[in-house]
Amino acid sequence: MSLRLGDTAPNFKAKTSKGDIDFYEYLGDSWGVLFSHPADYTPVCTTELGRTAQLQAEFEKRNVKVLALSVDSLGKHEGWINDINETQNTTVGFPIIADEDRSVATAYDMIHPNVSATTTVRSLFVIGPDKKVKLFITYPASTGRNFYEVLRVIDSLQLTADYSVATPADWKEGEDVIVAPAVSTEDAIKKFPKGVKVVKPYLRYTPQPNK
Ligand code: BEZ
Repeated sequence: MSLRLGDTAPNFKAKTSKGDIDFYEYLGDSWGVLFSHPADYTPVCTTELGRTAQLQAEFEKRNVKVLALSVDSLGKHEGWINDINETQNTTVGFPIIADEDRSVATAYDMIHPNVSATTTVRSLFVIGPDKKVKLFITYPASTGRNFYEVLRVIDSLQLTADYSVATPADWKEGEDVIVAPAVSTEDAIKKFPKGVKVVKPYLRYTPQPNK
């Protein structure tokens, strides 16, 4: 059965371009991003891994550890990482799993047989410090993901984990947020001293509380 939001992310041991890892040990108390790629030496994957490497400081700032996966071998990964560094003008600093037996891909349902029986689609999981699945997205091989969007949703996930708020459509860090429906307006006024704007009884905004 496929993983759903709130499920515990399966632990695994794997060979990676940075040595053998135990997933939970690798994550420690951090947030995690685990994302799959259809194959090494393919153009869209090259740009995705390059962008992720370029954004490494942004992931670190958010206490997020990144882990990529493809079902190709470590030997292939090594040569491909050199190509990514060269063509995307960056240095890949995060591990890439060599999931040759597809055990991780299977545990995370990254192989969609109606697309390909052997390679992974573009799955991406965000995992919280409690090891629960907080978000997943799935893209086809032909469409590269937007890693600025990945950072944006991590900002929302981390904010809404700590405060009784939700983030509106297209929200970005620093913009007003929505008071969670479970909080009464009376309580919201006490909880959010920067102010509560009531547009409708069910639609109430407050400045981002941790800014
Ligand atoms: C790519 O990463 O460029 C790619 C991989 C598989 C199919 C199509 C594109």
